[in-house]
Amino acid sequence: MTDWIKRWQEGKIGWHKKLPNSKLIEFITCLKLCKNSTIFVPLCGKSVDMLYLLEKGYRIIGVELSELAAEQFFKENELEYSIKKTDQFIIYYAPNIQIYCGDFFDLNAHDLKAVSAVYDRAALIALPADLRQEYTQHLYSIIQAGCRVLLLTLNYPQSQISGPPFAVNQAQVLSLYKNGFDCQLLQCFNDLENEPKFQRANVDFIEKATYCLHKK
Ligand SMILES: C[S@@+](CC[C@H](N)C(=O)[O-])C[C@H]1O[C@@H](n2cnc3c(N)ncnc32)[C@H](O)[C@@H]1O
Repeated sequence: MTDWIKRWQEGKIGWHKKLPNSKLIEFITCLKLCKNSTIFVPLCGKSVDMLYLLEKGYRIIGVELSELAAEQFFKENELEYSIKKTDQFIIYYAPNIQIYCGDFFDLNAHDLKAVSAVYDRAALIALPADLRQEYTQHLYSIIQAGCRVLLLTLNYPQSQISGPPFAVNQAQVLSLYKNGFDCQLLQCFNDLENEPKFQRANVDFIEKATYCLHKK
């Protein structure tokens, strides 16, 4: 966890993008959102995907370890915010968005009672293998039945370059979510041509996959 805080302090946030994720835009309909739906964004960083969803009229709950990330999100997007401290979180509030600053594993079902969908970009794949089952089990325990999850993952030969982001293949996704979720692969393709860091490391391929999960 301290590594992430340090990365934010040093500005080493290569995962952060300036434009909304094209797969979110392409596949958002699989979340079957209604007007005013609340979307949970785990390990949210200062993702502009949250701004995209806000501008579409949805409500957002994010969770993020780094206070710097939360502050930068509101300041860079010129959103006025207020702060409330609880035992485990500093919660940043602005209209239709709350970012819980603290550990994902401290969130509970009460915190997410309004949530009907989850958007996971660079959350599952940010975690080392030994934390992933705990992550998916905790996610299962804090969201309601019927909730849908849009999950974006990467898969590449892990022996050729170290993470994060870590490689998570289709069999691993199916195994991680087999208890309690229906899992549909929406798309998977090799995108090495758009990944200079992986090209420089002579990685054979980098597959980008998009899944829609449905909590039973
Ligand atoms: C790879 S970044 C992805 C951020 C964001 N999803 C995006 O697409 O830009 C992962 C983020 O997870 C945060 N993080 C890591 N472990 C966490 C935890 N246990 N609870 C909350 N946030 C965490 C890190 O600080 C980092 O900002």
